[in-house]
Amino acid sequence: MKKLMVNIDHIATLREARGIYYPDPVYAAGIAEMAGASGIIIHLREDRRHIKDRDVKILRGVVKTKLNLEMAATDEMVGIAREIKPDMITLVPEKREELTTEGGLDVAGLSGKIKKVIEKVREKGIKVSLFIDPEEEQIIASHKIKADMIEIHTGAYSDAKNEMIRDKELKKVVNAAKRGKELGLGVNAGHGLHYHNLSEIVAIPEIDELSIGHSIIARAIFTGLDRAVRDMLALMHC
Ligand code: PXP
Repeated sequence: MKKLMVNIDHIATLREARGIYYPDPVYAAGIAEMAGASGIIIHLREDRRHIKDRDVKILRGVVKTKLNLEMAATDEMVGIAREIKPDMITLVPEKREELTTEGGLDVAGLSGKIKKVIEKVREKGIKVSLFIDPEEEQIIASHKIKADMIEIHTGAYSDAKNEMIRDKELKKVVNAAKRGKELGLGVNAGHGLHYHNLSEIVAIPEIDELSIGHSIIARAIFTGLDRAVRDMLALMHC
């Protein structure tokens, strides 16, 4: 059965819209876990636009399932990960001007740098996932530098403007998931997944975990977070 990892960054986005102390992502983590999430994801961005250092510290103590810290491959973030010890990290490319993570990480082009990050965090018992586009070159490079997992970027599939493009992008995700598993990597997927585009991704047997944020937090405004997580789980497991 696929696992649902809930990204709670946008609880913090709402808090930061006012620069005050609520809503607190720490509460969101507890509710998501009680509703059946297998883990909590937070992205500590260089500009601290939503999740703050304080959130990461408290969530490390509070999350009882699995804490996945998304981060850029910088010295600052490596230091934080080594100190806080999340269960796993996901390395993502990061640009200050982007609204959300745009492309996948260029593991093939940056393999030396990423390998060093993997080695440094692994010393602390932290597992490493690499957020990559569904491309053979990136999967092979991830395997070569001994990542534990890959997270396949589903953004192009999710944003496809018509069925033809969507089918093409879906095939890329399917092939990438197969290739990752063949090489012995853990295979996760995420970005842009919502209640109406999930079924084809859920049908891919090689995918272990889905990483979903915006759609769940958006629905929670109307239904409450508990219900929004349970609704997503129902779609994943039907
Ligand atoms: N995976 C990664 C690596 C991400 O950066 C994000 C966005 O924060 C997600 C998954 C979740 O994407 P969404 O918020 O569109 O569900």
